[in-house]
Amino acid sequence: MAICYDENAKTISIDTEHTTYQMKIGPYGVLLHTYYGKRISGEDMSYLFRYSDIGFSTAMGDAGMDRTVSLDTMPQEMPSFNVGDYRAEGIRVQHGDGSYALDLRYVSHDITRGKYSLKGLPAMYGGSETAETLKVVLKDRAKEFYVTLLYGVYEELDIITRACLIENREEKTAVMDKAVSMSMDFLTGDMDIYTFNGRHEMEREVERRKLGRGITSVGSLRGTSSHQHNPFVILCSSDTEEEYGECYGFSYVYSGNFLAEAEISQRDQLRFAMGIHPSRFRILLEKGRVFAMPEVIMSYSGSGLGRLSIQFHRAIRNYLCRGKYKNSRRPVLINNWEATYFDFTGEKLISIAEEAAKLGIEMLVMDDGWFGKRNLDESGLGDWIPNEEKLGMSLKELVERVREKGLAFGIWIEPEMVSEDSLLYQEHPDWAFALPGRTPGRGRCQLVLDLGRECVREYLYQAICKILDTGDISYVKWDMNRSICDVYNPELPPEQQGEAGHKYILGLYDLLERITARYPDVLLEGCSGGGGRFDAGMLYYSPQIWCSDDTDAIERLKIQYGTSFCYPVSTVGSHVSACPNHQNGRITPLHTRGVVAMAGTFGYELDISKMSDQDKEEVKEQIEDYKKYFDLVQDGDYYRLTKPEEDFTVWQFVSRDREKSLVNAVMTSAKANAPDYIIRLKGLDPESRYKEEGSGKIYQGSALMWGGYLLPREIGEYQSYQLYFVRV
Ligand code: DGJ
Repeated sequence: MAICYDENAKTISIDTEHTTYQMKIGPYGVLLHTYYGKRISGEDMSYLFRYSDIGFSTAMGDAGMDRTVSLDTMPQEMPSFNVGDYRAEGIRVQHGDGSYALDLRYVSHDITRGKYSLKGLPAMYGGSETAETLKVVLKDRAKEFYVTLLYGVYEELDIITRACLIENREEKTAVMDKAVSMSMDFLTGDMDIYTFNGRHEMEREVERRKLGRGITSVGSLRGTSSHQHNPFVILCSSDTEEEYGECYGFSYVYSGNFLAEAEISQRDQLRFAMGIHPSRFRILLEKGRVFAMPEVIMSYSGSGLGRLSIQFHRAIRNYLCRGKYKNSRRPVLINNWEATYFDFTGEKLISIAEEAAKLGIEMLVMDDGWFGKRNLDESGLGDWIPNEEKLGMSLKELVERVREKGLAFGIWIEPEMVSEDSLLYQEHPDWAFALPGRTPGRGRCQLVLDLGRECVREYLYQAICKILDTGDISYVKWDMNRSICDVYNPELPPEQQGEAGHKYILGLYDLLERITARYPDVLLEGCSGGGGRFDAGMLYYSPQIWCSDDTDAIERLKIQYGTSFCYPVSTVGSHVSACPNHQNGRITPLHTRGVVAMAGTFGYELDISKMSDQDKEEVKEQIEDYKKYFDLVQDGDYYRLTKPEEDFTVWQFVSRDREKSLVNAVMTSAKANAPDYIIRLKGLDPESRYKEEGSGKIYQGSALMWGGYLLPREIGEYQSYQLYFVRV
């Protein structure tokens, strides 16, 4: 077992292959966090903490006159509240008698095989062969108020998950207005924090900064995990880089408002916590109600960020993503959005399909504009009825005719939204979020349907099933194109309005679960104006997410670089689009666009009827290449070899058995008389010899890794290279 309880030391240690996580039942039953880091064996790590009298750090109530025991400095697994811990709050509760307090003490623990699950919430999964679960029950010192900490342990993956269940067993209702899924106190706080920030069309830009005293936080209040701050954070030592140094990653398996807080305290300790954002969050805990907090996936690497990313990639790819496509090759698709926008007919799509089939493309995706009154983005959302007049045929006929061309058929939908100019809105104006007496704000001229309400979900479920039952539809792009505001659920009493935002997310998950259960073979691609909801929660339902609405290959390098810190390439929706690029007007070689899109699920999003014969030939080759490299891209280990600000952006895939490797290099800066660029490869077997395809040259693995590879450098902007090595 990876989880071990030491009766004498009162420690619970979780050992994964390379890491140890430890907690200890400390003085007065407080559950201490004593260690997370490189694997150690069996030691009680609490010796690192000194109990001492710290001025203005109040001693615990039950410690009598002992001044050395203060919750303000003790490293805890879940913080207490209003009983002497003045650091960032974890679970904030007002009990039925009006008192604000949480003073958690150990009650019991339980170790079982297999991974826990969370009802109604996405979470990593795993049977008894793969995972173990630790449950630790904590109880408030005075009240019948319980917090059960859940830990899922994947020994081989070096992954530990955390979540918690919060339960009030008192007669009187308690009110909770802040809750974290996990919290961890580090004894030293000399760390940097990585956050992944952005905006629409530039998601997950990497920012690294040193943590200073006080609270550093990122979060979202947009109702979605957001383009602006991704729910993934890394803490690391100041010397940590790709290949060395300590780092910790935390990925929230949640798609709504979140808050990640890192506080350096007066004693230079660090508290890190992740939870649902406390703004507009207020949960009534009636007697017996158990409130489940979403999961956080955690991992530690003692050998740099590259290793940490690989750990997350393996975990997400194999134990979070589900369905037929999780490990199989996704069809190479062509999406008509950037080819036609709203201006298309059924015949136009069929002609795209015909042309696409000749090039080896395998699926046509009909994007926005096929339903209701939808010729611009100001109307029609909610009316999920094919516009036969516009298409010039029924959806059934269109699907059949595309399939006759040899392509699978995929469809776009944006279920969570409604246009005021729609039949649905005329019938059910009250289904959209709106605050009483106020006109709701519009985003892209549309309103948000409250998925927290059963009637809304039922309508959408029926509407989606009707579409998917029309014909042989293999893929759904599930879009969501605005931030949420005016959150108010008329079915809830005033005192429960603080639950409306979370209920929306639970409703979304419920709907996604029903759809994926009924159509297990349909490939779902998540999307929110590109990557506005690119999070581990959504990946439980859709094994791929459209990474960004910015399809420019050069800007994509940066976006995909940031995305790669947590999310595997198999989840990254990426397409070759037209030039000049529609978002920024840049011109890049078709080859380079192909190379960049191959760091993702790969597809096309342009009008192929406008392509030259030469370009079409190149597309054929790209598709062949993608098929050849697919298993490496999907399942291989991914290495970042450069940072975005360098002259080349280079990344590498290595198969798990180190037999094959694909190096991708894009020149981002054209310079006259430029210095040579040597790139050191990673992950190869140093003792083996590798043959480079094309040149036929054979290199020693160690030479490529310690010496490097001299990249070609042609004249011209944005040249790119794919170097394929096979062990001989
Ligand atoms: C936003 C998506 O990210 C685009 O790819 C496209 O599907 C549009 N929505 C359609 O409205």
